[in-house]
Amino acid sequence: MSHFLDIHTTDPVALRQMLDQAAAMKAARAGRPRGAPDDEQPLSGRMVALIFEKPSTRTRVSFDVGVRQMGGQTMLLSGAEMQLGHGETIADTARVLSRYVDLIMIRTFDESVLAEMAEYADVPVINGLTDRTHPCQIMADILTYEEHRGPIAGRKVVWSGDGNNVCASWLHAAGQFGFDFTFTGPASLDPEAEFVGLARSAGSTVVIERDPARAVEGADLVVTDTWVSMHDSQSAKERRHNLLRGYQVNEELMAHAKPDALFMHCLPAHREEEVTSAVMDGPQSVIWDEAENRLHAQKAVMRWCLGV
Ligand code: CP
Ligand code: NVA
Repeated sequence: MSHFLDIHTTDPVALRQMLDQAAAMKAARAGRPRGAPDDEQPLSGRMVALIFEKPSTRTRVSFDVGVRQMGGQTMLLSGAEMQLGHGETIADTARVLSRYVDLIMIRTFDESVLAEMAEYADVPVINGLTDRTHPCQIMADILTYEEHRGPIAGRKVVWSGDGNNVCASWLHAAGQFGFDFTFTGPASLDPEAEFVGLARSAGSTVVIERDPARAVEGADLVVTDTWVSMHDSQSAKERRHNLLRGYQVNEELMAHAKPDALFMHCLPAHREEEVTSAVMDGPQSVIWDEAENRLHAQKAVMRWCLGV
């Protein structure tokens, strides 16, 4: 069963094939209206369940549109409207859904929900974000980097801010795609040591540097994300802002990176907090391509999951 649960648990050859296919599929439909079908309809006759236990704009719309472009159908489900977590086990939900749909994408809180869904579903399961990881995002990000700058292998990616779920999937990707990764942020918000260890044991150089200007020296790509994630308590907001203020990505920080460095943010962004509008809307930013590429990358992920 080809579940897409995390980047480090997916075969690197398969990851590369997915990105190649994503780029080819994107090129093949260039210039068409968004709702126009692809020439190939590999999801014809397939039903995809999209389950959200947290809000979403990009993941929700890009999966839905991607399935339709490939000839499939979708069912959007919110966790609150299902029996999820209301007594029925995740395992039983997985068994039932497997009788109705061909593929399940789920965005949830604790990754144990994702793991249980995958263990008991008879159909592939895709991780649409958990508190700990966001692999679909990083597939789109690497597709975007390579579109603009060529192979990411050997490049230096710098993450400035909170060592959160998106940062974790970047670390997973560092090992699989062979790039170096520097984290800069306060020690209390470091990425999980397990994930740093995974990247290092896969041969990637991982640096933890508290000084953001030094961290960004020689960067090919600078990335950040919100200072307060959906799973973080709102009561921690002020403390997090105080801890992270010095890690804002602004023009002054970008000036320390390579002159042709790119800027990425998974979005939604909080302008003038983790990143300034000058950077977001500036010449180094590729955030809109990054958002678009969620669509193309995930189409390839779904094809891989279904073997079509
Ligand atoms: N980047 C991302 O996953 O965005 P959404 O929360 O809008 O899906
Ligand atoms: N770190 C953010 C990413 C949103 C796409 C969150 O989990 O809220």
